[in-house]
Parts: sequence; structure tokens; C-alpha cells
Amino acid sequence: MAGMIIKNLSFKVGQTLTVVGVAKPDATNFDLNIGPNEEDITLHINPRFNAHGDENVIVCNSFEGGNWCEEVRQGGFPFQQGEEFKIVIEFTPAEFVVTLSDGSTINFPNRMGAEKYSVIKFNGEARVTSFEVK
Ligand code: GAL
Repeated sequence: MAGMIIKNLSFKVGQTLTVVGVAKPDATNFDLNIGPNEEDITLHINPRFNAHGDENVIVCNSFEGGNWCEEVRQGGFPFQQGEEFKIVIEFTPAEFVVTLSDGSTINFPNRMGAEKYSVIKFNGEARVTSFEVK
């Protein structure tokens, strides 16, 4: 996911975003970011194989006005270097519910409070093979 960005997307309350990809064989981490514009991020999902001092953990956060906010570390770690992964993000009225392939979930509040987000960015050592909003 070398810096892929999707603008003018419409991800609204009630919808589900499903991302399938493959982590690189030597991946240290990758992230996907949902936001209202190209700078701010309402939901950052960062699986870390070995990055920022963490091993096999998913770090979620938001980024507003140039600052990272409070991290949420939840869910299992069903990711393997070189292997396919699937991340399902449900946008409920109250929060984002992220479901991983081991069935574990991450609950992340919709801190910015918008009912629609339009920008999705992918970074790091993985590539997206399929992407769907339903
Ligand atoms: C930082 C890292 C960012 C982001 C953030 C999440 O340490 O540099 O890329 O993952 O943590 O809180």
C-alpha cells in the first residue's frame, strides 16, 4: 500500500467498508486511514508486526489538527507477513466496529462526529487487492 489515496469516496453511517490485502513478506507495519480530508484522520488502523517498539499489535487512533489523539489497542493480531488479510469496518451511529479475520473486534469512537467520510489512505508494507463499500 505504497501511499494509495482514494478521494471523493463516500463512507456513511450504516455502511461497511471491507479491505482485503496482502502484507509484504518483510512487512514491519502498514496502515489504513479514513478521514474527512487529506490531512485529518478519524480512524487510523495500524497493524504492527514490528514497528514503533511494538510487536504484533494493532494500534488505532485519530489525527486531528496535526496531532495524534488517544490510542486504542484492542483485538487480536490475525496478520502474518506475506499473507492475505481482511479488515471489515462497520460505521454505526455510535462508533466504528472493526472486525478482523479471527473474529475479534475493535470498537473505535467516531471522534470527529461526521456522518460521512470521503478520504481513505493506505500506507506501508502491504498492497490492497480488493476494496468495497456497501
Ligand atoms: C505513532 C506513529 C504513527 C501512528 C501513531 C498512532 O507512534 O508514528 O504512525 O501509528 O503512533 O498513535
